[in-house]
Amino acid sequence: MSEGGREGARRVRGVIERLTRDGTVVARADGTVHHLFPVAASPAEAEALRGWVAREGATRTIEIGLGYGFSALHICEGLLGNPGPAPRHVALDPYQATRFAGCGLQVLDEAGVAGLVEHHAVASELALPRFLGEGRGFDLAFVDGNHRFDGVFLDLIFLGRLVRAGGSWWSTTTNCRRSGARRRSA
Ligand SMILES: C[S@@+](CC[C@H](N)C(=O)[O-])C[C@H]1O[C@@H](n2cnc3c(N)ncnc32)[C@H](O)[C@@H]1O
Repeated sequence: MSEGGREGARRVRGVIERLTRDGTVVARADGTVHHLFPVAASPAEAEALRGWVAREGATRTIEIGLGYGFSALHICEGLLGNPGPAPRHVALDPYQATRFAGCGLQVLDEAGVAGLVEHHAVASELALPRFLGEGRGFDLAFVDGNHRFDGVFLDLIFLGRLVRAGGSWWSTTTNCRRSGARRRSA
């Protein structure tokens, strides 16, 4: 990793450590105090996710449900450590500006990785078919959006086509905060 990359990863780690320690974020937008957990991925889940991004050598990732940006920070940290072309993380969240008062985008900005992240304030069931039509593809997907059966079902149907063969996806559910990795068959 270049010195610039190392410095970037250190900055991301600093924000992750602060959020893990404090468990709160104050929204710049309106001064509201938000408690990250248990809405955000747990530190153990997020750490495992970072490891998967690194192991897959992913450079193009997608996440359903930006929320507080805790999982996105770990994905970005993993991306910064991977060699290859300019990394890109796509994060979907139709409620980022409302329910989350922009906190997810705010922590990404504080961590210096806002430039890596493409946020769409659009529900996944609308954004994913559009990405498919545009011929987009990803190395790894993290699903932590609408946890109802129909929401997760649709996400996985579309991601099955958007994640490249040999890539991987993760899914969490709110009533079962465990993550599982599934490798796509070719
Ligand atoms: C459990 S939170 C995600 C937490 C995030 N992974 C983190 O670590 O901070 C669920 C997120 O999914 C978003 N969401 C809900 N329905 C969605 C949908 N149809 N498409 C995309 N995101 C959705 C919510 O606004 C919320 O940000």
